[in-house]
Amino acid sequence: MEREIDKLNEVMSTPSSGERSRDDLAGSRSSELDRESGEVVTASTHAGRLSRPQDLDKFWMPFTANRDFRKQPRLITAAEGMYYFTANGDGILDGTAGLWCVNAGHGRREIVQAVHEQMMELDYAPSFLQLGHPLAFSAANKVAELTPPGLDRIFFTNSGSEAIDTALKMAICYHHCRGDTQRFRFIGRERSYHGVNFGGMSVGGIANNRAKFHANLMPGVQHLRATYDYEKQRFSRGEPEWGGELADELEQLVDVHGAHTIAAVIVEPVAGSTGVLVPPRGYLRRLERIARTHGILLILDEVITGFGRLGTPFSAQYFGVSADLIVMGKGINNASIPMAAVAAKNEIYQTIVDAAPANTPEFFHGYTFSAHPAACAASLAAQEIYAREGLFQKAGAMAGYFEEAIHSLEGIKGIKDIRNIGLLGAIEFESNRSANEEMALEIHYRCFARGLLVRHTGSSVTLSPPFIVKEAEVDLMIDTIAAVLKTF
Ligand SMILES: Cc1ncc(COP(=O)(O)O)c(C=O)c1O
Repeated sequence: MEREIDKLNEVMSTPSSGERSRDDLAGSRSSELDRESGEVVTASTHAGRLSRPQDLDKFWMPFTANRDFRKQPRLITAAEGMYYFTANGDGILDGTAGLWCVNAGHGRREIVQAVHEQMMELDYAPSFLQLGHPLAFSAANKVAELTPPGLDRIFFTNSGSEAIDTALKMAICYHHCRGDTQRFRFIGRERSYHGVNFGGMSVGGIANNRAKFHANLMPGVQHLRATYDYEKQRFSRGEPEWGGELADELEQLVDVHGAHTIAAVIVEPVAGSTGVLVPPRGYLRRLERIARTHGILLILDEVITGFGRLGTPFSAQYFGVSADLIVMGKGINNASIPMAAVAAKNEIYQTIVDAAPANTPEFFHGYTFSAHPAACAASLAAQEIYAREGLFQKAGAMAGYFEEAIHSLEGIKGIKDIRNIGLLGAIEFESNRSANEEMALEIHYRCFARGLLVRHTGSSVTLSPPFIVKEAEVDLMIDTIAAVLKTF
């Protein structure tokens, strides 16, 4: 253990090859809240406090190779604008908006301020006791201003995974309340990620996530084929021309299982975690048409695409598709406090509510921290920033530049495919699978060492910068990746 801590301290105190420092990049903007309280906490004292944990054993890290991390710990201790910072002040350009979620960039003081004020006023309100608090309603109203018309009943959760399972339960509940009790099946899609709870894992299509749990997955789930075909779609810019007809597989599943047994079909409009798989032109509208014909609900998982990533509030508006339930999270409050939500069609809400006897909860579902006051305050503040700074429009406006930039890597040895839409992009690497996955991981490490955060997923690395990204920063991301590729 001691050796691990020594290693950690060594890593944190050795300047990395990144040339950018917190002072260079962000100036010395210390926290206004700290100033107000009279306690001046500088970047370095802040980092010092946080960067030397005594024991790396206890925290079981999510989706992380824990043993490898402990051999070579990498900690980030601060963030500002487009940058993360290590304890010694090196800037790491955030090419991933954290985890596709810090859409307005880091360290937004208005959000901190709103959370601080809310916590001083009302820290927590129990919502299972026939009690509400004003900000929950305001936050729902604000989200409903962005969702497509008619999808304005907002149920808050704390994570995308919870929101996914909430949406699945809403679908079943809705059919039940209409007396359609045989509709128990869900249709998911291969290579989709819908979080890690049992519902989301079951409709999800990622083998590693499902392995070991097969006996426990929800019954009655079928999967559509993934929409990605390398031969027909490689180096597509935006929506691939080929593949809209893949939606017709839903019709085949209806033939096999009977529409009367299918509750809902759930898809990520753009599959993010499996490497930015952009839906083929017309695919989503076709899927919607088939679902509608058969009384099957369409659930769009917009946990990544929601809140402006394609330039519109939700990708439903971008693709011109009408869903029954939209799942969102991440950007809902710029990732500052755990929060996610489901937007349900009025008809779904009304059917469920009207079916219950008076003085009984209509939907036996919810979380202790649903609509937590701090999360609601953060959400309202984030929406205010998005609107005031026109950030969704900025993301849309930057998409063309981003597309040109990422596709400029085409032709570099080892690159097998490049895909993009909005401010989402992926670069996939060649041939043999396990070597590729290692290569993507290694690229992630080498980019980090040069001051850039990219995400590796399977044999791809992905980029999803905050919407405040400038052209020069896009260039820096692409140049860094190109430089790293030369080192192989
Ligand atoms: C499309 C999608 N759905 C659901 C989730 C799960 O969200 P969470 O990690 O907040 O549970 C994610 C997380 O990345 C996601 O990308």
